[in-house]
Amino acid sequence: MSKRVLIAYASRFGSTEEISIKFKQTLEEKGFVIDLVNLKARKKEKLDMTDYSGVLIGSGIRIARWTKEAKKFLKNNTKAINDNKILVGIYLSSGEAADPYKRPTIIEKYLIDVFKELGLNLGENVLYDAFGGVFDLSKNTNLSWINKKMLNMVGDEDPNIVRNERRDYRDWDQINRFIDNFIRKLG
Ligand SMILES: Cc1cc2nc3c(=O)[nH]c(=O)nc-3n(C[C@H](O)[C@H](O)[C@H](O)COP(=O)(O)O)c2cc1C
Repeated sequence: MSKRVLIAYASRFGSTEEISIKFKQTLEEKGFVIDLVNLKARKKEKLDMTDYSGVLIGSGIRIARWTKEAKKFLKNNTKAINDNKILVGIYLSSGEAADPYKRPTIIEKYLIDVFKELGLNLGENVLYDAFGGVFDLSKNTNLSWINKKMLNMVGDEDPNIVRNERRDYRDWDQINRFIDNFIRKLG
């Protein structure tokens, strides 16, 4: 029987969503059965991680914070993750993680510290990584005026954030390596 994988993600502006859809496609090509769940759109039904051989959990970062939905999902499933039986992959889309030199610090701050805060063990069954993100200040952006304003302000100090432009700093080789590693461990 095909193994089932849950991809549960929450994205504010679409970057984590695109990464999650890519994961779904890659896993389906390898014969896995996928439930892709947008945690921001989900109804009240409970997701049981123990129904799956593997679970991927993704969130975008805004003002140094996870989405509340992804963080809550992680918190609600601490026991299942710590039980060490299910393969878990946790990933972020974060503007700051785009720079490979800064990435270890970002992983410490946005992943390891959050795992500690929630009482999550980082057993052999847990993979995690932080991917770069998208800064969209183009005229077609889906950012609200307040998010745009904030990004423009940060952009005054950061050359990677460019007024009136969309810059995509996701490294798809890094993203593909993560999912390939997850698939290898899933067996
Ligand atoms: C208002 C605003 C604040 C942001 N703050 C941060 C931040 O504190 N740290 C960071 O790494 N990236 C930050 N970003 C960049 C996001 O992480 C990036 O846009 C990412 O692609 C968002 O993922 P999502 O589209 O799935 O929500 C910010 C972006 C916006 C628009």
